[in-house]
Amino acid sequence: MQGVLLGVMYWNVKVGGSPMICLVLTGGTIEASVSQYERNKEYVDIVELRVDLLHESSRSRVATFPSLVDVPVILTIRRQSDGGMYIGSERSRLALLESCLDGKFDYVDIEDDVKRSMAEQKAREAGVRIIRSKHDFSGMPNDIYHRIAKISAKGDIPKLAVTPQSILDLITLFRVRTELKDVEDKIVLGMGDFGLPSRILYKRMGSLWTYCAETPVAPGQISVQQMKELYQADKVDDRTHIYGVIGNPVNHSFSPRIQNPGFRGINFNAIYLPFLVDSVRSFFILAEMLKISGFSVTVPHKQQVLPYLGKITREVKQIGSCNTVVRAKNLWSGTNTDYYGFVEPLIPDIDSKEIQSALVIGAGGAARSVVWALRNHGCKVTIINRNLERAKNLAQETMTAYDTLEHAKLYEHVDLVVQTTSVGMVPAIEEDPIPDYTFNKNQIVYELVYRPKYTKLLQRALEAGCRLHFGIDMLIRQGKHQFESFTGYHYPKRLELSLDLEED
Ligand code: ATR
Repeated sequence: MQGVLLGVMYWNVKVGGSPMICLVLTGGTIEASVSQYERNKEYVDIVELRVDLLHESSRSRVATFPSLVDVPVILTIRRQSDGGMYIGSERSRLALLESCLDGKFDYVDIEDDVKRSMAEQKAREAGVRIIRSKHDFSGMPNDIYHRIAKISAKGDIPKLAVTPQSILDLITLFRVRTELKDVEDKIVLGMGDFGLPSRILYKRMGSLWTYCAETPVAPGQISVQQMKELYQADKVDDRTHIYGVIGNPVNHSFSPRIQNPGFRGINFNAIYLPFLVDSVRSFFILAEMLKISGFSVTVPHKQQVLPYLGKITREVKQIGSCNTVVRAKNLWSGTNTDYYGFVEPLIPDIDSKEIQSALVIGAGGAARSVVWALRNHGCKVTIINRNLERAKNLAQETMTAYDTLEHAKLYEHVDLVVQTTSVGMVPAIEEDPIPDYTFNKNQIVYELVYRPKYTKLLQRALEAGCRLHFGIDMLIRQGKHQFESFTGYHYPKRLELSLDLEED
């Protein structure tokens, strides 16, 4: 009884209050669902009991569930066509929904195409709010604003879970907030990788809550812990500065784990999240719309952002690529922190003349930052690459020397060896771009691959007694430089040790 009272009390507090984080319960039994809630209690404001995920034997006890937790509960029995697991006729599903409503649920999710059901009638009589849901796993209906307005006019809560296929689709979703200002109670979310920003910035979407799970059950869903701890999505307000990383793919970027804790460390009201971007041009429209304050740029957009920048640094101009964009007065300004992240630890050795000559393996995008940085600091550089033409082009542009990969042994006397290709990266960890090259203990060896930390090449260099520089440290350094560009502050010192990105 106490649980029921508590549930009602929470309901009163939360509805019309601040938006919430909803945990989708995926346990197979009532007990497992309660435990799942208990484990994640600190993160959630509301839970959704997915009866379709419960074993048949637990379904008769669904009505007891709301009294076992002290937050509002949504009752849902999702059919397979909407991404659920309910097997059985539509008639039996609706009958089950109706009987479950004997419990004191706060909300019931009834699909938008289910008309005049007994469950609906029972819910209305009991004062249970109805969420009218529509799922689209392959795209976006072209009448989303109309659908939302229509459902809302009936007093129900519209829930639209659609699958944006591009940044333009995501823009359409984010426009819901301004197009439907008067519809206060609504849930709109984009599934899949393009949709992730709409899940995290659900408050900017004007959604009542966002759905998370302990182990994600829908496309693009993230764990409740990530939502609450990494992104602190529920703390976003109208003054929160939005930052992000754009790329394709992008959702596995480490950058949110560098930037978000940093923002918190300096008490900066800001959030940093991944944006899967198919068109840079569209992203700049979204960036204006969401008033994005700055963003990191990763493959394949580092060159494509250049035409949109009003101001660039000398390094961006030289390298022809930009990995950091910040909003300056009325224009976007671009820098390249890969350049500094790379060269910074070498400067003492360059200044002391310990490094005067360098061999750079590779002539791709990463090599461009490396070669320009070394050359600008007065090192004598030779580029070796599988594709000789590419090495030649970069060498001519940077006024350095070049050769084929097979001739690596001719350069065993250099002070510094830098490995910029993808060779040796997981999963091909046994590969080595210069297997016949003999290192000597006076050399410094710099590997840009960060997964694994010790590539085959670095292991050989270690055995030869060389001094090593790791890709993971460069990644962190460039991230810290981005943080400075974004905030104007140094990255908080006390957080530095917690950036152990190797585990992933
Ligand atoms: P990035 O931006 O990471 O540098 P990139 O521009 O595609 O990526 O460049 C990849 C680099 O890795 C190139 O130097 C490429 O050599 P080619 O120019 O000959 O393609 C190099 N690379 C990739 N796979 C390689 C392999 N199996 N052996 C040798 N070099 C390789």
